[in-house]
Amino acid sequence: MPNIGNKQQRVDGPLKVSGQATYTADIASPFYHAYVLQSSIACGSIMELDTSAAEAFTGVKAIFTHKNLPERLKNMVDYTDPLSPPGTPFRPFYNDKILYNGQPIALVVAETFEQARYASRLIKVTYEQKEFKGSLEENLKNASADRAPEPASNRGDFEKAFKNSDVSITQEYRQSRNYHNPMEPHATSVVYKDDGSIVVYDKIQGVASSLKYLNGVFGLAADKVQVKSDFVGGAFGSGLRPQYQLFMATLASLELKHNVQMVMTRAQMFSFGYRPEVIHTMKLGCSKDGTLQALSHHTVGETSTFEDFNETIVDWSGLLYKCENVNLEYKLTPVQSYTPLDMRAPGGVSGVYALECAMDDLAHKAGIDPLEFRRKNYVDYDQNEDKPFTSKELRACYDRCEELFGWKNRKDKTTNESHVRTGFGMATGSWEALQQKASVSLTMDATGKFTLKCATADIGTGTYTVMSQIAADKLGVPLDHIDFKLGDTAFPDSPIEGGSWTVSSVGSAVAGVCKKFQYRIADVWKRKYPDYQDAAFEDITFEEGNLEYDSKSFSFTEIMQQASKEELSISHNEAPAEGQDTHSGYAHCCVMVEVSIDKELGVIKVPRITNVSAAGKIINPKTAENQLLGAMVWGLGMALREEGMVDTRYGRVMNANFAEYHIAVNADVHDVHTEFVEEKDDKVNPLGAKGVGELGIVGLASAISNAIFDATGKRLTKLPMLLDDVLEV
Ligand code: MOS
Repeated sequence: MPNIGNKQQRVDGPLKVSGQATYTADIASPFYHAYVLQSSIACGSIMELDTSAAEAFTGVKAIFTHKNLPERLKNMVDYTDPLSPPGTPFRPFYNDKILYNGQPIALVVAETFEQARYASRLIKVTYEQKEFKGSLEENLKNASADRAPEPASNRGDFEKAFKNSDVSITQEYRQSRNYHNPMEPHATSVVYKDDGSIVVYDKIQGVASSLKYLNGVFGLAADKVQVKSDFVGGAFGSGLRPQYQLFMATLASLELKHNVQMVMTRAQMFSFGYRPEVIHTMKLGCSKDGTLQALSHHTVGETSTFEDFNETIVDWSGLLYKCENVNLEYKLTPVQSYTPLDMRAPGGVSGVYALECAMDDLAHKAGIDPLEFRRKNYVDYDQNEDKPFTSKELRACYDRCEELFGWKNRKDKTTNESHVRTGFGMATGSWEALQQKASVSLTMDATGKFTLKCATADIGTGTYTVMSQIAADKLGVPLDHIDFKLGDTAFPDSPIEGGSWTVSSVGSAVAGVCKKFQYRIADVWKRKYPDYQDAAFEDITFEEGNLEYDSKSFSFTEIMQQASKEELSISHNEAPAEGQDTHSGYAHCCVMVEVSIDKELGVIKVPRITNVSAAGKIINPKTAENQLLGAMVWGLGMALREEGMVDTRYGRVMNANFAEYHIAVNADVHDVHTEFVEEKDDKVNPLGAKGVGELGIVGLASAISNAIFDATGKRLTKLPMLLDDVLEV
């Protein structure tokens, strides 16, 4: 029975539910514990830093600050990591300058976490504060296109087409800052060995990212450091770049020659990257019959004063619908804050939010059903790059979603109880289908079991499971003959697990190494049975651990008894498919939602969300559906709950906790459903599979906004949309 396409349970599930999966903070070793003291001002310098009382406190082993950072670290060093945006990455304890509120200014290392935390409170800090402006709004006049990458080229004559449009809208949309908040906080456990080498367990979306940072900053040669990360409790982009605890725990471990662990508190999870606040200005025009004539999307986003973090935001508006006259602009504004960070579908979530709200508004003004409006402006090639798509079954998504949700007769079902208004909204979503180069090694043992290794990650997405499924099918062995290992810099290279490209990249490499191994088995078989010398590889099948030819069956183990030790191992580097250059690869979805709003209380509920996605071959419908559902729940939270609030007087996040930073919880989530349509793709990568980790969050907030309009007649043009926004409408 094939494994690819099966709703396979997670192979790591039993370890997780029985508590045996060891996350970074679960590593058991006699550790010293590290706790960071953070700056309470946003801009200025440290005048005095008195650590004497803290040093004298029970259990305290050392305190690190800018005053005692080892010279060798100051004189190095390359603080960049694979995901560093342009600029100068933050260097902890580098000098007395304060760049943002929450900046680590002292590291206390003690025998216990509690001792370290308490001692940090005994440090006396005197600052010299400087004037600063801590919000996007206050810094808008400094917005500059020079700091941002250029968006896709403008085309046609937007101004003229906009003026000549029969129907048009001009609207500003705003999104608040969002924080990642994975369940597992960021953590690093450094195990110090007698020979001076270290094993670093890090919460990261790719161990190579941590290794590069450690190599650069601490000058650690490859044989002096190994980074491991077996399990990751969610990350969503927060683990793309190494976070400051990696620096802290490693510094302390190397200096004290001892095991050191640092685990961030939930509050500290708000002290680094975030999805930036952005302001969009949309201008859309169409003809009476609903043909899109003109589209302009201008966005300003926040970045830090030291790095130019950027996302691909406005380009989506040049891509999703057919339009001849397009004008795109993207600007960045530095604020005194830490640098923003990619968060699930970075840029896509933001750009498509504004676009899909604007499309709904325009459809309404043109008197056309929003779904029909999108069908009318469908496009089947990439206008930004003037390329065909590898595949695009979005039309099938529209059709199936319409049917599943009951879009045509949606108003019939409306109960409209006296105190509730019901509304319906929809949106399109899309995400890139990229492939990166990746390498995998494979070894067969005497019992016919296979071990595959790759430095990739499983951030909760199901990497262990789907890679095992791919390997089982591509080798022709049962699933339990596969042991897929990941999260170790000793393993062959992998891209970071991000961008929804892991199945595409690592999965294709797994398929590649398995194919190579089948050729090898066939060679050894021919050596053993010279009668079959002329057998064509195409005529051989591999099933259940057997090579089958001409109605005869030979087990892998029996054949490979003939093999040398070297022949039992193989590795493979897979480069991106040719189609990645010649074509544009995207996954697509359609999402429809129902909202109900209490007339008197303003409470907004979302009883139904239906998503239909086209994402090429679905390797595991269960884990893929799980990805979509998680993203959809997050989209709901983004629409109605999540808001990182910065106190502009201090530049400090005010709601750095789960009591006040609201995420969607069980009580918010009702009927959430997702399905996939069939999508054949022979260009995107050898598996024909597109990633689904990010797709489901794209478009969702706009669908909810559009449904709120349908229910109330009020266009809410900011996120999150709160009950006060719909009261008295
Ligand atoms: Mo994703 S934001 O590439 O982890």
